[in-house]
Amino acid sequence: MDKFVIKGGRRLTGEVVISGAKNAAVAILPAVILSDEPCVIENVPTISDVNICLRILREMGAVIDELGNNTYRIDPTPIYSFCVPYETARKMRASYYFLGALLGKFNKARVSMPGGCPLGDRPIDQHLKAFSALGANYTLSQGMIDLTADKLCGNPIFFDVVTVGATMNAMLAAVKAEGLTVIENAAKEPHIVDLANFLNSMGANIMGAGTDVIKIRGVEKLRGTTYAVIPDQIEAGTFMAAIAATKGDAIIKNVIPKHLESITKKMEKIGVNIEQYDDSIRVWVDGPLVKANIKTAPHPGFPTDMQSQIATLLTLADGTSIITENIWDQRFGYVDELRRMGADITVNGKVALIEGTGKLMGAPVKACDLRAGAALIIAGLAASGVTEIEDIFHIERGYDCMEGKLRKLGADIEKVSIPDNKASAKNSGKAAV
Ligand code: EPZ
Repeated sequence: MDKFVIKGGRRLTGEVVISGAKNAAVAILPAVILSDEPCVIENVPTISDVNICLRILREMGAVIDELGNNTYRIDPTPIYSFCVPYETARKMRASYYFLGALLGKFNKARVSMPGGCPLGDRPIDQHLKAFSALGANYTLSQGMIDLTADKLCGNPIFFDVVTVGATMNAMLAAVKAEGLTVIENAAKEPHIVDLANFLNSMGANIMGAGTDVIKIRGVEKLRGTTYAVIPDQIEAGTFMAAIAATKGDAIIKNVIPKHLESITKKMEKIGVNIEQYDDSIRVWVDGPLVKANIKTAPHPGFPTDMQSQIATLLTLADGTSIITENIWDQRFGYVDELRRMGADITVNGKVALIEGTGKLMGAPVKACDLRAGAALIIAGLAASGVTEIEDIFHIERGYDCMEGKLRKLGADIEKVSIPDNKASAKNSGKAAV
């Protein structure tokens, strides 16, 4: 096991380049299964969730060549299995995208129920509702989901709740279904649009992605393509918060400013200066940080995946800030760890009250999920003294070489190995979110 050791108090300056979007890549890689020819995928982040996707594809028979520079050539034509191995699938939350891709290609799929997670309940009823609407039958037994369909036919799908995963899965299952599928109350995140663009580049007929109504006309075949994954809006937002928390001044490169709008607006309200260019932004702080009221919401609202990071920034602001988490019912797991660093945060259900104390002190802490881990890194960078963060496997699921990028910005951060016997005694090991 490894941990991060951070000596806080250094301003982040210089330049950082954002990697491909985790939440787009973990949907696009399974989507390659739908193609009848090899695909080349570029700007794939080097993160453990992607490694699990590639391993699942290989275990099912796909031939994958690493072409270097975060580019992979994937030939799905030798795939002989529609079953995703239990042990591999349950390690990653997004393994459920293999359900939609395999059903869309083979009219059948067998994937483990997505693992538990520290964000609270994560049902898949809307995924199953979408598959059933297209003509699939499903059974749940021994932790596995089995899908079968004689034939997939386009149909209307109305989601009872805005859901990224089910919107993605509905697109994957519908692209080759006969006739028209209309998805209503669809999620509008940038990674939804990225998956639709990828599928359309293979010859799919998807219109309206990025709005709440997506229309899909089924096609017979999907051809090979070369496609670059969009930059990660949440990684960019995380670095915005880190630069601001250290009162730094840096350029964040390889971003799509439009995807950062809700994050930028809130950062500016807090007193962070942001200048936008075509594919980069400058972030700097030259005055006091002030309180803010944050409510997470589906895109284009403030992203829940930035909630813990901006909360950390607000512990350094003047005044009392309010954070309302509207997507997940247990996404304040990081608060106890921030309290160990001197933060004054009170949580009551979906609401966290943050009394800005203006300072944090280094302490030994533990990441409980991916974004909580990112928040603790930001706290360690801003704190006085040394912070040690354990369970950084959560962070490495979704951030590509975080410590290297931070060091390049001037941070004093190191990855240190902990002897396994010591770590295993402490680590409860939770499933990935
Ligand atoms: C995706 O999770 C992301 N993960 C999450 O990011 C992100 O927090 C979430 O979308 C919201 O933006 C990936 O893309 C791999 P949802 P997902 O389905 O698809 C309820 C990160 O940090 N719901 O949009 O699982 C659900 O309980 C991770 O990168 C149902 O009720 O989220 C939640 O309240 C964490 N029934 C809401 O919808 C369903 O069938 C949104 O969930 C599905 C979801």
